Amino acid sequence: METFKRFRRLKKSPIIRDLIRETVLTLDDVIYPLFVVPGKKVKREIPSMPDCYQFSIDMLIRELKEIEQLGIKAVLLFGIPEKKDELGSDCYSEKGIIQKALREIKKNNINLYVITDVCMCEYTTSGHCGIIKDGGIDNDKTIEFLAKSALTHVQAGADMVAPSDMMDGRVKAIRDILDENGFVETPIMSYAIKYASSFYAPFRDAAESAPQFGDRKSHQLDPGNVRQALLEAEADIQEGADIIMVKPAMAYLDVISKMRGKFNVPIAAYNVSGEYAMVKASAKNGWIDEKSVAMEMLLGIKRAGADLILTYFAKSLAKWL
Ligand code: PBG
Repeated sequence: METFKRFRRLKKSPIIRDLIRETVLTLDDVIYPLFVVPGKKVKREIPSMPDCYQFSIDMLIRELKEIEQLGIKAVLLFGIPEKKDELGSDCYSEKGIIQKALREIKKNNINLYVITDVCMCEYTTSGHCGIIKDGGIDNDKTIEFLAKSALTHVQAGADMVAPSDMMDGRVKAIRDILDENGFVETPIMSYAIKYASSFYAPFRDAAESAPQFGDRKSHQLDPGNVRQALLEAEADIQEGADIIMVKPAMAYLDVISKMRGKFNVPIAAYNVSGEYAMVKASAKNGWIDEKSVAMEMLLGIKRAGADLILTYFAKSLAKWL
């Protein structure tokens, strides 16, 4: 009788390893984030996010056709307006950059599931996620604008809206306005568990949304907290969130796993810009292998409990798989 277990039996060949694998990454799991800018014929690479671009609407349409061909199923759109102002008006204008992009996407019969990010930081001169009053963000005023923004997105053709602002009560405000306007079947993916993270730095270049003063700690979660995260997730689900998101992903795998254990709604995880940039930069230096590291990272996020993963690696993944 052996006195120890032989785990190597099930690691012996690729076939047996494939047969017993518990978690497998597929293109069905990923959502590809994209940045839309004003103008024509614009395809501008984001310096801190190699292989990611800002697209004008005409170029976005071309990109989306390619993405669809590659087998990606869903995208998340961020808009950078022509003009920012104090009230972030492009964010909820029918002629806003995202609303225009959505109409163009529908016109072109693109068969992708289109999700829109709902937030004000790209649209306000302050770079803050809402309307400023007395040096801080006015929560209740802001959620009215966010609701209006979500409604105009859905009216223009968005399949799902994803509020990322972290104001209190915004999921309810959005659910109410969508329902009142007959969009009872449009889901909300809430950035319910969004940490005040330093991993968003490259994104703020991409979306031109860095705060002009202060930080986002008055509304985003403190990285040390998980009980508070559970409370916020619970509140968002009660307010009507169909999917809840944890963001960032890599440094918060424990949080993803806790959410998975606690709630039965689908859990999304955002593999954010800083996580992407770290892999890209070290691969460029020849220090790691981009493909295997990126795939291992995404697999880890899924294994932790994420059903959906928002990642800038989506297009590469489509080629790798
Ligand atoms: C806010 C928003 C941010 C990200 C997604 N939505 C930035 C922020 O909160 O400052 C970050 C995404 C990333 O880093 O990839 N509209």
